[in-house]
Amino acid sequence: MFSSLVFPVLFFLTMAGRTTGQILSCFYEIENFNVSIIEPSLCTHIILIGSSNVDNIGHFQEPPSNVTEEFVKLKNRAPVKLLLAVTGNSAHFTTLVSSEATMQQFADESLAYLDRSGIDGIDIDWEFPVWSWGAKKSDRTRFGDLLRILRQKYGTKKLITVDVAGPPTIAKYSYQADYLNKYADFVQIMSYDYHVYDPILNPVVGFNSPLRRLPYERGILAKMNSVFFCLISSKVNLRIVSGSFFTSLLYFSCKT
Ligand SMILES: *[C@@H]1O[C@H](CO)[C@@H](O)[C@H](O)[C@H]1NC(C)=O
Ligand SMILES: *[C@@H]1O[C@H](CO)[C@@H](O)[C@H](O)[C@H]1NC(C)=O
Repeated sequence: MFSSLVFPVLFFLTMAGRTTGQILSCFYEIENFNVSIIEPSLCTHIILIGSSNVDNIGHFQEPPSNVTEEFVKLKNRAPVKLLLAVTGNSAHFTTLVSSEATMQQFADESLAYLDRSGIDGIDIDWEFPVWSWGAKKSDRTRFGDLLRILRQKYGTKKLITVDVAGPPTIAKYSYQADYLNKYADFVQIMSYDYHVYDPILNPVVGFNSPLRRLPYERGILAKMNSVFFCLISSKVNLRIVSGSFFTSLLYFSCKT
């Protein structure tokens, strides 16, 4: 699973994280679940992905109890924050945000789970508001309503993080900077998607997860980097680089 490229980058970031209080979040996929292979002291946050989703009526689906029990044991090995990624078909998220009552219920159910399990927060992985089959234009603002309702219920005792599309071609339709800034603890950009080969839109490939544009990058290619995303989409300073340790993808985060 470990790519030789990812490991040294992460080592550097881990050191940075220790000394400056920054974030190094790590995703762990549920497939072949075995927490004994995780070294939790390398990360400030570990996000379990693949075991929780939004179902077709917009309800919160928690992980199997034996998975939760194993996952929380990581806390005995390092002072790490644990989060649960909530994924799901985009149309299911659209259903979730289409009614205030469903959002309130989702917030109550997820909070009850977090309180019961001792997990520190949730990571919302909706791919992507507005930009997918079954999506609605209203997803963009209603996603903000969902985050607001979650924050109202969670207060400051639980974390809320959001995974966002990297390419600004998608992000400009999907998100509003103000609610990300206001309600999320941090935002993780799926920066591995900047250089995806597409014969028409993006016929050039480049470095994985670039932080800044390269001198020769022009037009849309000049916007396919995390500095551009953070400045334009979140209007905040770039805080840290966060890498996914347990898959070979890279994410960057904007401070919120
Ligand atoms: C989990 O991984 C450890 C270390 O590789 C191994 O010894 C153990 O048998 C694994 N457990 C399961 C249930 O696969
Ligand atoms: C949890 O239980 C299910 C069903 O009994 C089993 O298939 C799965 O391997 C278990 N997972 C873990 C992490 O123990």
